[in-house]
Amino acid sequence: MLSRTLLIYLSQKEGLKDFAARFRLFKKVTTRFVAGETIAEAVAAIRDLNAEGCSASFDHLNESVANSEEADAEVREYLHILEQIDETGIDSNVSIKLTQFGLELDPDLAYRNARTVVAEAARRGHFVRVDMESSAVTQVTIDIFKRLRSEFGLNDVGIVLQSYLRRTYDDAIDLLKIPARIRICKGAYNEPPEVAFPDKHDTDNNYVRVMQLLLKSGVYHGIATHDPKMIEATISFMKREGIAKDAFEFQMLYGVRRDLQHQLAREGYNMRVYVPYGKHWYPYFMRRLAERPANIWFVLKNLLKG
Ligand code: FDA
Repeated sequence: MLSRTLLIYLSQKEGLKDFAARFRLFKKVTTRFVAGETIAEAVAAIRDLNAEGCSASFDHLNESVANSEEADAEVREYLHILEQIDETGIDSNVSIKLTQFGLELDPDLAYRNARTVVAEAARRGHFVRVDMESSAVTQVTIDIFKRLRSEFGLNDVGIVLQSYLRRTYDDAIDLLKIPARIRICKGAYNEPPEVAFPDKHDTDNNYVRVMQLLLKSGVYHGIATHDPKMIEATISFMKREGIAKDAFEFQMLYGVRRDLQHQLAREGYNMRVYVPYGKHWYPYFMRRLAERPANIWFVLKNLLKG
């Protein structure tokens, strides 16, 4: 638990990246979880995933931009991604973070930037997922999503909920009334016990409760997890309720449990892999280590192997 807190803390110290990146081998290791620094590298990774029967979601890594010019650059990057999806014919949608579009500078700026991307995606027939970040921005993220959803269709824009948050079950009920496409995940940030369950069992139980609510809603949702227990719970619920395999999708992160990704795709489940790329890979990479400190051994082993 301490190592998770420490790693999440370190994930916020971007300066450490410059230190780590001096080691060429570190870069080699990060490519296990990050598809590269450019769109072309992400496209190549997605082609491989598509060949294995998995769809994808692009994620340009750049959380918390410092000014509106940087937020504009993020919008341009996403417009370029959408163009590339059509030009290359890959099977992928996109995931965005509102802090990347300026949420911490001005929520209205983030809304306008997200709207530009959702409008272009909708014009091209692609789906945009609004990722969920720390609890400091949960409500404003939901508010902006609802505003977007009032202007665009169910299959144009969706949102993410985190089962570690105490509020999530109620949020799911509320969002399903619109309705909305939801990705349920456990949650990846350090949160105080007032807002998030400190006990992993409660997070897992809440995950199952929300998953069941989503699957019964008749809307196409994303069940994002690498946890075999959550996957098993989803499959047995789906079978018990007579829900079709193609009524939802499993989602996992690039490089995490690749064996399970392939297995579920082979068994005929819709499997989407979230493909992060970009120069600002450091906080994302550190959060993946925090989730599973055993990954630190993977990193060290590879650094030593050379
Ligand atoms: P959990 O962390 O409980 O792990 C269960 C088991 O899964 C582990 O025992 C291990 O076997 C395996 N596993 C998990 N993580 C691993 C890793 N890094 N390496 C190797 N094995 C691992 N979070 C958020 O706050 N906002 C968001 O928008 C998103 N978006 C998102 C999209 C997608 C597609 C996924 C899969 C995840 C997210 N997340 C996220 C991250 C999510 O909240 C969570 O931190 C991770 O998925 C880890 O939780 P698990 O459900 O995998 O279970």
